[in-house]
Amino acid sequence: MIDRSIGEIVTENFKTARVFGKYKIDFCCGGKKTLEEVISEKNLNAAEILSELELVQNAAGSDYQVLDQMNLSDLITYITDQHHAYIRNQGPIITARLEKLVRVHGANHPELMEIQNLFATHYGALIQHLMKEELILFPYIKAMAGNFADNAPKPSAMFGSVKNPIGMMEVEHVEVGRELEELRRLTNEFQCPPDGCTTYRTTYDELHAWEIDIHTHVHLENNILHPKATALEASWN
Ligand SMILES: [Fe+2]
Ligand SMILES: [Fe+2]
Repeated sequence: MIDRSIGEIVTENFKTARVFGKYKIDFCCGGKKTLEEVISEKNLNAAEILSELELVQNAAGSDYQVLDQMNLSDLITYITDQHHAYIRNQGPIITARLEKLVRVHGANHPELMEIQNLFATHYGALIQHLMKEELILFPYIKAMAGNFADNAPKPSAMFGSVKNPIGMMEVEHVEVGRELEELRRLTNEFQCPPDGCTTYRTTYDELHAWEIDIHTHVHLENNILHPKATALEASWN
């Protein structure tokens, strides 16, 4: 298992994501690295990680296998309905909660203002990112899948190869990952301070859930959708 990429391991069984999360191993943007590379980069205990991974892999059930086996159109619909909708629904809720928190606790917790500003930038950039996927990349991948099924030529695109918009989206994913790391740092790993009220705790829980959802979302795109779309395009060459 040690010579396989982090993305492959998570795709095969999403429960492994929890182990990687625990060791702060990036499974979405850094998913192309092998487990061995990451262990040596971070100077981690290989035997310990491998035994934890084996433990979760032996536990039953993995919803990711289903997603990995989906056709590309269904996978895109799943990503849009689940993860894009989540960002659009949850973003305004978290924004409103942060406004309230800054008002009530901002004087004692100046970091809340930083969190509010960071979240505003991060959410705004994500909305732009979703639009690019929904208007450019996803329709093209669906068109390719349709033409391939009909034995038709590869659909033409003004951007040339599908690798170009994919590359752009992956660059943006790296930035999204950096913003999430910063969010984690500013919230002290999403731990509510002792003087925090229920809204404080709820907001931090929601920010933590936000991080998990976006990591999952980026994983589905970087490690399942993008490699499959690239391979599909190559089938016309
Ligand atoms: Fe997306
Ligand atoms: Fe994306």
